[in-house]
Amino acid sequence: MQALLKKKEAASGRKQTFYIETLGCQMNAKDSEKLAGILTDIGYEESPSEESADLVLYNTCTVRENANQKIYGHLGQLKKLKKKLHRDMEIALCGCMMQEPDEVAYIRQKFDFVDIVFGTHNIFKLAELLYRRETEDGMIIDVWEGTDEIVEDLPSVRKYSFKCGVNIMYGCNNFCSYCIVPYVRGRERSREKEDILQEIRTLAEDGVKEVMLLGQNVNSYGKTLEPPVSFAELLKEAVKIEGIERIRFMTSHPKDLSDELIEAMASSDKICRHFHLPLQSGSDRILKAMNRHYTKDRYLEIVGKLREAMPDISLTTDSIVGFPGETEEDFEETLDVVRKARFDSAFTFIYSKRTGTPAAAMEDQVPEEVCKERFDRLLKLVQEIGREMSGRDLGKVLPVLVEDINHQDESMVSGRLSNNTLVHFKGDPGLIGSIVPVKLVSSRGFYYIGELQA
Ligand code: SAH
Ligand code: SF4
Ligand code: F3S
Repeated sequence: MQALLKKKEAASGRKQTFYIETLGCQMNAKDSEKLAGILTDIGYEESPSEESADLVLYNTCTVRENANQKIYGHLGQLKKLKKKLHRDMEIALCGCMMQEPDEVAYIRQKFDFVDIVFGTHNIFKLAELLYRRETEDGMIIDVWEGTDEIVEDLPSVRKYSFKCGVNIMYGCNNFCSYCIVPYVRGRERSREKEDILQEIRTLAEDGVKEVMLLGQNVNSYGKTLEPPVSFAELLKEAVKIEGIERIRFMTSHPKDLSDELIEAMASSDKICRHFHLPLQSGSDRILKAMNRHYTKDRYLEIVGKLREAMPDISLTTDSIVGFPGETEEDFEETLDVVRKARFDSAFTFIYSKRTGTPAAAMEDQVPEEVCKERFDRLLKLVQEIGREMSGRDLGKVLPVLVEDINHQDESMVSGRLSNNTLVHFKGDPGLIGSIVPVKLVSSRGFYYIGELQA
């Protein structure tokens, strides 16, 4: 492929460029960094815009129906762009949506200008697929149904110099009845502890201060390793790595959350005071139908334990309204948990029917108007409580990891507290990547305005 690229460079008098659009979760974003790594390794350069790129890659998500609609909208625009520019732009689609055969069939039929389609299991093949595109006719489609393989040491181009996601496991075995992720990401596979720690050490040497450990259910990390390792054990080792000052993780499933994990968190300041604990529903009946393996009481018990061990912790959640069969009483239970758990923020979703999942075949799908009405009520409550919760550190001086220039006011920079809350304050872009003390002088709903302390 390198030789082919050189030829293209010679013909155009410049380097070939790529643009990646990331449409999914943190794991999807991490895959995009790996794809960028592979492309950079073989000689591409990143393009600042889609319009000027020679290769446009859409890394798709399919968790909810509207994610798919978005892609088809994007593709329509790309077709026009390709026509307008009259040049040889290559278009590749990858990620979770490509693991669905019906979607790929639709793309093949309706979007014949797409060059390459591949899935979540073979991103390491990108260079080969690009080569095939040059040497074969028609759309190149290479989607694997699953894999046991974990490919280590893929190159990666980091979006930020000071923070980085680290995969600790792939796939998911939970089969929550509404969710398509286990079908498109395959079975749960944990990376070896030593491989993960080595990656974090290398990142630390490279100046990374914050790592986010990634998995669909980090609490079940290591159960299938030989010998088994727990997530808490992994964390305890990770905090020892010099240079790493903050460790976050995503996502936790309440069913596997251990006391050992809460202790490991509480015993190290390096582990950020933020816990994302998806609730999905507060009704025991619905939780059972969702195949979540916990009850409302158990959920609230975990919340109690987390708050007791770390009073300064911020809790966030995901919740679905309108799961098949959800009654007004079921929904009230969700509102009740929100009132009791007092989340800093919550992602609320209207249930989306995903073909092939058990919930899609359930009776009593909830009418759209009912879903919308419940969604609005839930959102209102979540925002009310979020506003009350997020101002609780007002007046304190707390460490902030500075992440970016403030795009509304360039004399300011923006960063995050350990508990993930955003803080904006007057400061120099030179601070980006460092952790500095900031006094929280005013609370503006979901963020603070602060003052840098000398
Ligand atoms: N592994 C994570 C979540 C991955 S998907 C976990 O278990 O928490 C992110 C969120 O999308 C889920 O928490 C859920 O709230 C939402 N989601 C998943 N499938 C959905 C569906 N079919 N309809 C609506 N929301 C869904
Ligand atoms: Fe989906 Fe459940 Fe797995 Fe999360 S734990 S990815 S919601 S099946
Ligand atoms: Fe979407 Fe795939 Fe993540 S379906 S939420 S990008 S694992």
